Amino acid sequence: MRKLIAGNWKMNGTSADLPELAQLASTHSGSSVDVVICGPATLLSRMADTGLKIGGEDCHPANSGAYTGDISAAMIADTGATYVITGHSERRTDHAEDDALIASKTEAGWNANLHVIICIGETEAQYRAGDTLDILRAQMDQSIPDAATAATTTIAYEPVWAIGTGLTPTPDEIAAVHAALREHLKTRFGSEGAQMRLLYGGSVKASNADDIFALPNVDGALVGGASLKATDFSPIITAL
Ligand code: G3H
Repeated sequence: MRKLIAGNWKMNGTSADLPELAQLASTHSGSSVDVVICGPATLLSRMADTGLKIGGEDCHPANSGAYTGDISAAMIADTGATYVITGHSERRTDHAEDDALIASKTEAGWNANLHVIICIGETEAQYRAGDTLDILRAQMDQSIPDAATAATTTIAYEPVWAIGTGLTPTPDEIAAVHAALREHLKTRFGSEGAQMRLLYGGSVKASNADDIFALPNVDGALVGGASLKATDFSPIITAL
């Protein structure tokens, strides 16, 4: 399985950003790792025209219907996108999404032939209480559907307290969490769990990417703020 760098533009990006994205696509067209940008629905089809792999940031569990303002996985796939994120902590927090809904969205993504990046992560209070692994195992058990395979699914570990804060766990902490996640995936999914990509996310930038990517069981990163500018994102891609 190839390693993966995924950018998540969140609620950022307009057509003015497309030339820079096209330049990024050209710079990394021969990359030995998968490079994906998950962007706002308004831009997805034009982002896909750059030749980069593109993903949605969320999808509705249904294929179509009376869901004003929502976007289905099939609609995301129709733009030319091949990935979608589910379970990002900003969706869990701002839209009260629970693990069962995230599992449904993940299945919807698979049904539309999208590769799904399922996010998990503990809050600062849970981290301080020493509950990180219990929280992550429960989130994995409930938000990853049984049919997950390495070809269809990537898991992104994002400590909520590290997102957009400039804080990160220590390399030893990241390594310990990823080792535990890998064991949990192997126990449940066997050889598929051994192959499933495990990304780290939360304040990844050029200055810490080397150290994070050197860790065992870290198969890439989900990058927020540092994916918005090619000058910030390119060195992270190169570091993997
Ligand atoms: O999806 C990306 C994560 O929320 C990380 O965001 O790199 O800005 O901390 P960040």
